[in-house]
Amino acid sequence: MNRRVVHTRGGPPAEVLTVVEEPDPTAPERGQVLIRTTAFTVHPGDLQAIEAYPGTAAQPVPAGVEATGVVEAIGPGTRVAPGVEVGGRVTVFLHPGAWARWIVADAEVVVAVPDELSDEVAAQMMVNPLTTVMLRREAQEHLAFGYDGFLVQTAAGSSVGRLVTGVCRFHNLPLVNVVRSDRGAAVLRERFPDVPVVSTEHPGWTDEVRKVVGGRPVSVAFDPIGGKPAESLLDLLAPGGKLVSYGQIAEEPISVHASTLLSKSLTLRGKNVIGWWLSEASAERRTSDVATAKQIALGLTDQFDVAAVYGLGELTGAVEHAVRPGKVGAVLVRPW
Ligand SMILES: NC(=O)c1ccc[n+]([C@@H]2O[C@H](COP(=O)([O-])OP(=O)(O)OC[C@H]3O[C@@H](n4cnc5c(N)ncnc54)[C@H](OP(=O)(O)O)[C@@H]3O)[C@@H](O)[C@H]2O)c1
Repeated sequence: MNRRVVHTRGGPPAEVLTVVEEPDPTAPERGQVLIRTTAFTVHPGDLQAIEAYPGTAAQPVPAGVEATGVVEAIGPGTRVAPGVEVGGRVTVFLHPGAWARWIVADAEVVVAVPDELSDEVAAQMMVNPLTTVMLRREAQEHLAFGYDGFLVQTAAGSSVGRLVTGVCRFHNLPLVNVVRSDRGAAVLRERFPDVPVVSTEHPGWTDEVRKVVGGRPVSVAFDPIGGKPAESLLDLLAPGGKLVSYGQIAEEPISVHASTLLSKSLTLRGKNVIGWWLSEASAERRTSDVATAKQIALGLTDQFDVAAVYGLGELTGAVEHAVRPGKVGAVLVRPW
């Protein structure tokens, strides 16, 4: 029997998620790939979507968008990406319902995993690297980025934050990392000794950021939090600066007076990898970005930390661990 993670209403994931049994999938049709999954990542965004699901669903809603596994069969006449073959390791994104033992995915969302990568890295190979690519592209639109202008990012110790840091170091882009605790700052400093880290634990942290940049402009800020931290970033931005909001950790809204935006000609931009992937990116762009995501996984393998691995029967523990303060790395589930 196949086992699949589903929910029928919104609410705390530990309460609303269940594992259901269903018949094994039949042979894939044209355009499809049958995959036996070996691991999936519990992304914070997955949990937010489950929490925010409106009302009650008529049918169980399958959870998850990314998983890694092994190809068991390819539908007749199906065009697959290079390297995708029966018996080969693959990762799927974007596949709603990726949290299952068996999935039948559109061939378009199936990519081959390089031999060098472990299952643990392969399970994280798409969402976070593609988010990093998406954010970098947003930053790149700012003329000063990569020259004089600094990037500042909050929640810098997150899985995405560490990839952003790795990419900035590789391309020699000036970056200030911001985290919410002195403890988190120490951990990040040890990992990236050459990248300045500021903790928001003390009032006046924005002055500390100003001291670090030493009069150079803060051109771009990445923020997955919102609320007060995002407001502080708007304050830090130089004229013409851009805040890229890509998460909604804070409960409170971002409060900004129009005069702040007007006086400095600021841009406030929201970016979501799923929406961007589905509606904005062309097929050529997606192919190119998947290649870049693989390069990030290969070049920054050490930044794909795993906080813990759970079994499918321990799903409650996995979803609770995925939002635990101070956690470093992804929480993975092995679907057996
Ligand atoms: N827009 C998109 O397409 C997209 C794609 C991927 C991820 N995201 C978002 O990016 C964020 C990071 O994802 P991830 O998988 O990298 O997460 P992660 O590895 O689980 O890390 C979460 C981070 O958020 C920090 N954090 C949690 N609550 C906070 C708060 N109230 N104030 C300040 N920092 C807080 C944590 O800090 P501590 O270490 O101090 O606990 C930790 O560094 C999430 O919000 C996620 O939803 C968005």
